[in-house]
Amino acid sequence: MKIIAYGIRDDEKPYLDKWSDENPDVEVVSTDKLLDDSTVELANGADGAVVYQQKPYTASVLDKLGEFGIKFLSLRNVGVDNIDAEAAKRNGIKVTNVPAYSPEAIAELTITQLMRLLRRTNTFDRKQANGDLTWAPDIADELNQMTVGVVATGRIGKAVIKIYEGFGAKVIAYDVFHSPELEKKGMYVDTLDELFSKSDVISLHAPATKDNEHMLNDETFNKMKDGVYVLNPARGSLIDTDALIRALDSKKVAGAAIDVYENEVGIFNTDFGSFENIPDERLKNLMKRENVLVTPHISFYTKRAVRNMVYFAMDANKSLIESGKSDKLVEL
Ligand code: COI
Repeated sequence: MKIIAYGIRDDEKPYLDKWSDENPDVEVVSTDKLLDDSTVELANGADGAVVYQQKPYTASVLDKLGEFGIKFLSLRNVGVDNIDAEAAKRNGIKVTNVPAYSPEAIAELTITQLMRLLRRTNTFDRKQANGDLTWAPDIADELNQMTVGVVATGRIGKAVIKIYEGFGAKVIAYDVFHSPELEKKGMYVDTLDELFSKSDVISLHAPATKDNEHMLNDETFNKMKDGVYVLNPARGSLIDTDALIRALDSKKVAGAAIDVYENEVGIFNTDFGSFENIPDERLKNLMKRENVLVTPHISFYTKRAVRNMVYFAMDANKSLIESGKSDKLVEL
């Protein structure tokens, strides 16, 4: 059995090598290149492919995999929004993801950034770099006094709710699927509008779907409390960036932490050498603000998560090749 692993980064290599040593029956071939039209040929002769990338898995690439008889594609991440679902189905390609490599990793960065916003650490850091050790001009807020609205209560939503509760915040939540355990606590509100109007902090944990693009837009920002905090470690498409900039300008939004950005592909995880060289004016507009914290999609980037992404995806691909089955199959 042969598996090709695409887009393998240096930090993933040791885990892949270890998995390979533990699975001597599998021939593992890896490349640091992403899966696209120029690299799909490398998969010819493999039984399955293990991938992670944010750029699209296009119809032409999936057709080529189909031509090579590759029926198993295992993603090392959770989001499947960049797969051409029709093309995968047409080629009979089964797709797995890693739904829970570490929900806690995402939750911990979310809360880290929220606490940084509330305690104005960015302001202090910037002032202190210039030798200014005075107190910040505006006084901090306390999470234990706030209502946090969590959008989507899947694994990540649940992990972050646990932490919010630990801080003593009141948590309300919205999801079409209700978790019995959160339902019992009376946590759910009936509509997103209700969540927007009642929350001091809005914490987004939904996958990208065609229905939730720009869930946060001019209209929905207007429904929020003045001085709301917005956290998005989920998907860039959930927020209309121009509307966020307007809401920051008008002070409707007191602060925002975004680990994802609608135009992030090709920008995040790239070194442009200087701030000026970053080729995205809207992103730079956000990054310049003291009350906006931008991180380049790093919420997943912990040792445990990266290890699990490699191991769980390789295990899933091997299992598909052996039996056509995996508990990580995705409904596209
Ligand atoms: C996902 O798992 O879908 C993520 O968003 C993390 C990814 C950047 C590795």
